Amino acid sequence: MKILGIETSCDDTAAAIVADNPLGAGGVILAQRLHTQLDEHAPFGGVVPEIAARAHLDQLDRVLRETLDTAGVALSELDGIAATAGPGLIGGVMVGATTAKALALVAGKPFIAVNHLEAHALTVRLDGVVAFPYLLLLISGGHCQLLIVEGVGRYRRLGTTIDDAVGEAFDKTAKLLGLGYPGGPAIERLARSGDPDRFDLPRPMAGRPGFDFSFSGLKTAVRHAASGIDLADAQIVADLAASFQRAVAQSLADRTGRAAAQFRTTHPEGRHLVVAGGVAANTAIRAALDQVALAADLTLAVPPPSLCTDNGVMVAWAGLERLRLGYSDGLDFAVRPRWPLDAAAPKAAFAGVKA
Ligand code: KG4
Ligand code: ZN
Repeated sequence: MKILGIETSCDDTAAAIVADNPLGAGGVILAQRLHTQLDEHAPFGGVVPEIAARAHLDQLDRVLRETLDTAGVALSELDGIAATAGPGLIGGVMVGATTAKALALVAGKPFIAVNHLEAHALTVRLDGVVAFPYLLLLISGGHCQLLIVEGVGRYRRLGTTIDDAVGEAFDKTAKLLGLGYPGGPAIERLARSGDPDRFDLPRPMAGRPGFDFSFSGLKTAVRHAASGIDLADAQIVADLAASFQRAVAQSLADRTGRAAAQFRTTHPEGRHLVVAGGVAANTAIRAALDQVALAADLTLAVPPPSLCTDNGVMVAWAGLERLRLGYSDGLDFAVRPRWPLDAAAPKAAFAGVKA
């Protein structure tokens, strides 16, 4: 089975072709291409939706052609065409989903509407090791959620952010420190030479009941700390970056630790703690979560960094997982700017829409 996947929900125009693995579970990446729009958005310090939509329109044809050429696969040889159909910036999502529908129509193949969050959630299964159920910490530019993944399309949300997403907290802190966009990688780089104990920052929600997250108090504390220092002093900025990163890591570890303990009792057959989304690329956060997994007798599983941030492979893989269960969608499928994984969970008013 060969699936083409298209991702255009934020600032990356990406495509990939993934095949199932004839030797067992998991899949094989036949080709992948990604055009990042960082340069286009950098002057604005964040993603501008109109610029993103236009850039997807400009780049997608080329990205698709190169993906098909590299894989040496013709449209007629595909088994299905998948695209992110939400949640995300609606202009970009429409570009990708409409293109996928047109290709599906022309080639006479099934169209698979992929939930971007489900794509993040399932990526880890590409290597064929992680089985359902697993506990998932989804940390990206628009989300911060703890979910139990019971199967394809079967999610139970334990907790979510009550204000900012964690990637958003990285991006805003980086902006405050004059580090540019996207903030996550810049903060991680700088934090390596910083002292994480230099600033006493809060560990939001730590020790509180439940599994929700909050980052706005930490953001305010960082703003206070930054206003009292010389931002031209590289060492002190590195110390603040390191202190912020440690506070985030410990807050995530606290909430995830509680969820892991509960997951062990509700799903004793579960073996893995999975971390996904752009922020999962952060080494210090991975290390903190490794300890959490160890303490709960779970194994930490994280996709490689290039598959944590948005990419086409995750969409192709989610499409493959869905199609092989018989799920596909009509060409009248309406894209969804908001599309929670657990429809039964209460609406999270401040959880962001970007994924
Ligand atoms: O999943 P993703 O690629 O895209 C969407 O959110 O749509 O996540 C992007 C987020 C950004 O906020 C970025 O700053 C953050 O992931 N990020 C990181 C790192 N790499 C990317 N945050 C912390 N450390 C990193 N190394
Ligand atoms: Zn994403």
